Amino acid sequence: MGMDSFFPRRERSSAVSPVSGFRTDAPLLRVRDLTVGFPLRGDSRHMGMAVDGVNFTLRRGAVLCLVGESGCGKSVTALSLLRLLPSPPAVILRGSAHFEGQDLLTASEAELRHIRGNRVGMVFQDPMTALNPVMRVGRQMTEGLRLHRRLSASAAKEAAERILAGVGIADPAARIFDFPHQMSGGMRQRVMIGMAIACDPDMLIADEPTTALDVTVQKRILDLLRVRIAVSGSALLLITHDFGVVAQIADDVAVMYAGRIVERGAAAAVLAGPAHPYTVGLLRSRPGMRERKHRLEAIPGAVPGLWSRPAGCAFHPRCSGARAICAREEPPFFAARSDKGGVFAAFLPPETSDSGWRYCRCWLAEGMRIDKSAET
Ligand SMILES: Nc1ncnc2c1ncn2[C@@H]1O[C@H](COP(=O)(O)OP(=O)(O)OP(=O)(O)O)[C@@H](O)[C@H]1O
Ligand code: SF4
Ligand SMILES: [Mg+2]
Repeated sequence: MGMDSFFPRRERSSAVSPVSGFRTDAPLLRVRDLTVGFPLRGDSRHMGMAVDGVNFTLRRGAVLCLVGESGCGKSVTALSLLRLLPSPPAVILRGSAHFEGQDLLTASEAELRHIRGNRVGMVFQDPMTALNPVMRVGRQMTEGLRLHRRLSASAAKEAAERILAGVGIADPAARIFDFPHQMSGGMRQRVMIGMAIACDPDMLIADEPTTALDVTVQKRILDLLRVRIAVSGSALLLITHDFGVVAQIADDVAVMYAGRIVERGAAAAVLAGPAHPYTVGLLRSRPGMRERKHRLEAIPGAVPGLWSRPAGCAFHPRCSGARAICAREEPPFFAARSDKGGVFAAFLPPETSDSGWRYCRCWLAEGMRIDKSAET
């Protein structure tokens, strides 16, 4: 089945490319200085920064992967974009998240209700928190389709079956009568993905959407998402801890540690020539990706607690390259133009666009040449 028939294309407004039919003139989502804290035992004088000054841009037609170990702030980043964090305790302290020009962090509840599910689809890390346990999955799917796409009952049912088949669920006409608990974990994840893409959102945020899937089904889902993004000109923010997923699907990657993005750039370039010691460590601890000669090395130590972040570079207690300055002063972002085999230097690239830039938040990066062969 062609992707166009699977995801009927919606008319899109404003400056569109005559080739692809989607907007190319502005980033779809621009997140700047996003900072989210949790108070220690309810005491707002002791905020732990789960997300700390995060910047990234999501381009139309592109996939950005957010990677990092457990507890680094990936889900908090995703949830705060749609203001889905429980507040209290969560407090969005600073920042903006402009989605096609509208700041999601200051949008009204009514605007957000329209955006959620309709313009932005979300796949939650735990599908059971998002699926209604006492409603058949078919009904859950058709409700969204009827509300957001204004389909008739029979058209919505047909669409739901097509979507289930599209995410690889056998016997979709029977499965739509299942309650979520009657499905396997992997099936529930796929139902969530199907529901999120059913309304043809401009942006999809997916938090570890394929963890319960075997590699074959995972590949099928990632291919489906990839094709969908190319066809519709939407974009995907994909959270994962798996560099295999990054290698398969990402255009851009942002590596997160202790609430901060520490390295950012084109995925192929970062995978081939990581600049930050944390990224190097993550890649070394993954079998079959890089550094094949080396035996697998786990990064020593653990991600620091929310309320016990070390001074200076938060990675310094685990970093074999740490110097005296690392424990004292937090490194700024060093940036390099990635298409010219550039050198990392401490200056801020133009605000309007991130593409073509590599960023690394490490004292060792200053003056470091990015591996030319790794680029483009
Ligand atoms: N509701 C909450 N109350 C207090 N702390 C929270 C809450 N939600 C998240 N946190 C904290 O924020 C930090 C970042 O959590 P987050 O869920 O974003 O991690 P993650 O990178 O998604 O990890 P994982 O890979 O395990 O999903 C953690 O220290 C976590 O304990
Ligand atoms: S700033 Fe220092 S401690 Fe942090 S990653 Fe770089 S070398 Fe390691
Ligand atoms: Mg998470």
